[in-house]
Amino acid sequence: MSIHIGAQMGEIADKILLPGDPLRAKFIAENFLENPVCFNEIRGMLGYTGTYKGHRVSVMGTGMGMPSISIYANELITSYGVKKLIRVGTAGSLNKDVHVRELVLAQAAATTSAIIRNDWPEYDFPQIADFDLLDKAYHIAKDLGMTTHVGSVLSADLFYSDLGEKNLKLGTMGVKAVEMEAAALYYLGAKHNVQTLALMTISDNLLDPSEDTTAEERQTTFTDMMTVGLETLIAE
Ligand code: HPA
Repeated sequence: MSIHIGAQMGEIADKILLPGDPLRAKFIAENFLENPVCFNEIRGMLGYTGTYKGHRVSVMGTGMGMPSISIYANELITSYGVKKLIRVGTAGSLNKDVHVRELVLAQAAATTSAIIRNDWPEYDFPQIADFDLLDKAYHIAKDLGMTTHVGSVLSADLFYSDLGEKNLKLGTMGVKAVEMEAAALYYLGAKHNVQTLALMTISDNLLDPSEDTTAEERQTTFTDMMTVGLETLIAE
């Protein structure tokens, strides 16, 4: 057991899908995995291991924001030996070419968080996705016919931020979207030499708040993103 995860050694696969919402983890386990077994209920942060197309795969919630995902990713990597971690989440578009329901693969993540700066105050350490996972996810998403953007995102500490206008300016410089976890996940990937990737569907558009989706449309895009994540995890 680690401090926040109640699993025994060997109960978590070396490949894991990480939604923010623990109930989303339950949904994925029940709808995509065969024979899912729950390995964690501490703080309600549900985690499951099962098989996907014959491959052993886990899925676990991380909570929202970089402090929360850092705790879980750290323990998954250092206590349970997880080697491939793919976040599946949502993001707000900052970019005129990126619309609600579309998929963004975060090639890199800028951040307002101090967690990387604290370790590397003299450097602007780049937060980048694992290229092998990124390349595989891109081709899998394209083959599924999904509208897919690849580029940088902003990982923000605050959902309710006074930096709104500045964030939008980043959008004019090619940043695709704002979310709250990718930079920390990528940093831990680099620190511990494991593969990390963040996929996100656009749930809201900060340039055009009138762009909206129905619950059913959101579910469909979400389901497609899970397929991209799982297929990427098991791709040889
Ligand atoms: N900001 C930050 N994180 C998000 C957003 C947003 O607008 N939408 C989904 N995740």
